[in-house]
Amino acid sequence: MRVHQRSVTARAPGKVNLSLHVGAREADGYHPLVTVFQAVSLVEEVTATAAPTFSLEVSGPGAEHVPLDGTNLALRAAHALAERTGVRLGARLSITKGIPVAGGMAGGSADAAATLVALDALWGTALTRPELLDVAAGLGADVPFCLQGHTAVGVGRGDVLTAAMAQGEFHWVFALRAQGLSTPEVFRRFDERGSGLADLPAEADTALMAALRAGDAVRLGEALSNDLQPAALELAPDLAGTVDAARAAGALGVVVSGSGPTVAVLARSAAHASSIAAALTVAGVCASAVCASGPVAGARVVQEHQG
Ligand code: C5P
Repeated sequence: MRVHQRSVTARAPGKVNLSLHVGAREADGYHPLVTVFQAVSLVEEVTATAAPTFSLEVSGPGAEHVPLDGTNLALRAAHALAERTGVRLGARLSITKGIPVAGGMAGGSADAAATLVALDALWGTALTRPELLDVAAGLGADVPFCLQGHTAVGVGRGDVLTAAMAQGEFHWVFALRAQGLSTPEVFRRFDERGSGLADLPAEADTALMAALRAGDAVRLGEALSNDLQPAALELAPDLAGTVDAARAAGALGVVVSGSGPTVAVLARSAAHASSIAAALTVAGVCASAVCASGPVAGARVVQEHQG
């Protein structure tokens, strides 16, 4: 007879940085940021099943590139939650990837956020949101936003969040590159270029925030920006062709997502996004192009099995 264990499935979104201002590297190796995040409908799903020890399996696109050892952010999240709560239980973690690996869309951070939420439910530890956000911030700069979702301004390392007013739904195409980029490497190239802003803006771009409040995709497209883009383009020069092709296909705006190499393309509608995705695929300027929308909710439980 098959024994069914209790399990909880949680889902967490990937992100695109609508704007990303980066200051000069600080003594701790991190760069101060002023960024606006939007959570999008490319999601990671994590199922946590009761077990005496920790184990991990990963499936979906790019799964073969995900480390399964102690450096995996989902496993680190599980250990951090156990330590924080004093729980002495394990879990089998099963991740289904929907966010490009090493793509600048916070796929690993979404795994961590979904794991925290799933295990908090499985173990019955019932941490408050602020407590979960605190554990998340210890795991990586983007993990708190993957927990929170929607649209938010991030400062500090990008982990100090304020929810932003945004109206309506925005339609995106994400042009994926066959080979990912390492975030630390992109920041290193950024430093070598001497690009770090001495004076980081005190707050997020006025025009961008106004476009979000109005739900105005045309104005949002004009306001997209990313200080890391020149460094990412130097490390992956082929991205220039992707950006040009997206503009030629009628995009409202085009920006490298975070540290790249995924190129985020803003469209007028879902149908417009599909036609841009088809044009990019036919032009052969990306490995694949996927459509998504935002904003969407942060990490949340989507299914529980009592076992
Ligand atoms: O926090 P996380 O582990 O996701 O960051 C990955 C790497 O990206 C860091 O080790 C650092 O090199 C770089 N980073 C940075 N400044 C930030 C966020 C990330 O330099 N604000």
